[in-house]
Amino acid sequence: SWTTASIIDETVAAIREQVGDGHAICGLSGGVDSAVAAALVQRAIGDRLTCVFVDHGLLRAGEREQVEKDFVAATGATLHTVDVEARFLAALAGVTDPEEKRKIIGREFIRVFEAATADVIANNGADHPAGHTVDFLVQGTLYPDVVESGGGTGTATIKSHHNVGGLPDDIEFALVEPLRALFKDEVRAVGAQLGLPEVIVARQPFPGPGLGIRIIGAVDKQRLETLRAADAIAREELTLAGLDRSIWQCPVVLLADVRSVGVQGDGRTYGHPVVLRPVSSEDAMTADWTRLPYDVLERISTRITNEVAEVNRVVLDVTSKPPGTIEWE
Ligand code: XMP
Repeated sequence: SWTTASIIDETVAAIREQVGDGHAICGLSGGVDSAVAAALVQRAIGDRLTCVFVDHGLLRAGEREQVEKDFVAATGATLHTVDVEARFLAALAGVTDPEEKRKIIGREFIRVFEAATADVIANNGADHPAGHTVDFLVQGTLYPDVVESGGGTGTATIKSHHNVGGLPDDIEFALVEPLRALFKDEVRAVGAQLGLPEVIVARQPFPGPGLGIRIIGAVDKQRLETLRAADAIAREELTLAGLDRSIWQCPVVLLADVRSVGVQGDGRTYGHPVVLRPVSSEDAMTADWTRLPYDVLERISTRITNEVAEVNRVVLDVTSKPPGTIEWE
């Protein structure tokens, strides 16, 4: 059987062979797959890899710092962060329909990534008078994804709307997918061996559309701050209770259009509920609600209602999947 060290050696050799003296780009999501894929490619080709991290403002507390500080410190990777919170908030303003939110976030994400790629290519051209371009796009595809999609490998085309420095309109990349033979637990082991921080290696699943689909109602900056604060408390208490590895994930959902009456200190409040959605699962296709210990639930509830001004009620989702999905939108 493969040891983690031999997986790393063989994968790094295969990447070197595929990429040759070419350049690669990798979008980081903050999640384990893209981080481990990028770390392997970085080990193989060094600073001929450029990582791109899109901060769309829908991230959880600390995620940007984990990528910008911890990931970069652990790998030495070249990172290009794009700050596009205002753009995403403008595009999402007033939108309440879940599918509409997902479409907008997906569309904006691709546009931003295209523009960032064009910038990276323009900069590579400046650094290398010979005019290097970026030929490879790194993706964190895992073995189960390969099986599910029928096993093909290929190329990806990004249409450039932001034509920087005379780039062709369509940039075509060959895909580098260093995790194609691996399962999730192997990816985590490789990441740990490569020195990636525990917060990234052990991270639970988090949806691409981020907190945008955990606010039931329209997304705005204030609501995001409220949800981010509540989510950070829940995650902190679950971690302190040693439950990270026994639960699959625990979305915290803000019911932004619902208000209920409460009493706090010497006054009546009229605030919002948050929902805790702890689930146990093998593969997210089915899930059961997790019987969290009452004392952990109590600490989360007390802290959220004390520390997050807009939230005066914490409720527990006790629905399995099916019929409920894990996310609320
Ligand atoms: P559901 O809500 O369908 O979620 O039961 C199943 C798993 O998928 C995650 N999820 C997503 N992941 N992009 C992602 O990368 C998405 O749009 C997305 N939607 C849901 C969810 O967190 C759960 O782990």
